[in-house]
Amino acid sequence: MSLRETYIKELRGLAAQDIDSVEMRWQSPSNIALIKYWGKHGNQLPMNPSVSFTLSKCFSDTYFKLIKKTGPSSTINVGFTLDQKASPVFSNRIKDYFDSIKDLCPFLTGYDIIIESSNSFPHSAGIASSASGFSALALCLTTMEDNLYGNLDDDLKFRRKASYLSRLGSGSASRSIYKRASWWGESPEIADSSDEFAVDVSELLHPIFNGFQDSVLIVSSDKKPVSSSHGHQLMDFHPYRKGRLHQADQHLRDMKSALQIGDLERFGHIVESEALSLHALMLSSSPGYFLISGETIAVIRAIRAFRESEKIPCYFTLDAGPNVHLLYPQQFSTQVKEFIIDELEPLTDHVIYDELGNGPVQLS
Ligand code: PMV
Repeated sequence: MSLRETYIKELRGLAAQDIDSVEMRWQSPSNIALIKYWGKHGNQLPMNPSVSFTLSKCFSDTYFKLIKKTGPSSTINVGFTLDQKASPVFSNRIKDYFDSIKDLCPFLTGYDIIIESSNSFPHSAGIASSASGFSALALCLTTMEDNLYGNLDDDLKFRRKASYLSRLGSGSASRSIYKRASWWGESPEIADSSDEFAVDVSELLHPIFNGFQDSVLIVSSDKKPVSSSHGHQLMDFHPYRKGRLHQADQHLRDMKSALQIGDLERFGHIVESEALSLHALMLSSSPGYFLISGETIAVIRAIRAFRESEKIPCYFTLDAGPNVHLLYPQQFSTQVKEFIIDELEPLTDHVIYDELGNGPVQLS
């Protein structure tokens, strides 16, 4: 039996509480992938496992209200606002998402749904707003399930369900459910790892990663010209698909040990290689495209020159967009921030000084 069938069967066997209306609010962070998820198959299953750091200041804040419908209904009614404005694009994406999971969340048709979401950072600019947005939404759905059926009081069970539901909205969202570091994708390297949901790997981290910094250098907040969904699709027949799988496999193994022993040089080498490979895969897709800009390259060059001259372990990574994430240990914050202000700020629109975070928080 698939996990989906198991989840559906479990709810069918439980009696739901009679709840007229309920409100809740979750704040859920974005994450930055160290090993990238790029390419998928089936229903949002990853081509290769990925590993990420959970962020702290880049988050979505989602208010979720359900009001019981008076009569029987098979339709899903959702009112959605993003940053207090109607957003037909996101609204339709959420309706499609809810439609695709109504067997998993049968209450979706029994209630009118109001969602008010806001982001602490620009969306559609490759800072994985879909990761924070869908994880916040999935956490609301999981909380509602627990309110109705009382079946998720075990924290691990709750988070796995939330991660599973997040993944069905956006793959990378599955990794936003846990504090500090997550691993999504079945691998012999990690016990209990799965393609269906992410797992918490924060205990792998060497103390050098405590308070690890991620300064997000926003080169542009413009909407990206090619969506990640389309980019994933282009991996189906990509000429370098096999090579990418081999590389990801090697990187996963090396990254796991670098995280465990706190080998920053190896960590940095893999992180930068992953970022450049991700964008090289975009360049060599058919048709090829690029999301980085001249400023992205200028920022990367400046980071490498600073690292060389100052011997400070700071490394860049990229998401699916032109913005650069600069990763470094907390102990070098003063020097790196000075460098950012002097040399990188003139090349960027603004900077978000983020760091490893403790995962989602239920605000009400
Ligand atoms: O979750 P999606 O479908 O938006 O894919 C995002 C993929 C990358 O952000 C580019 C990499 C990753 O693993 O987060």
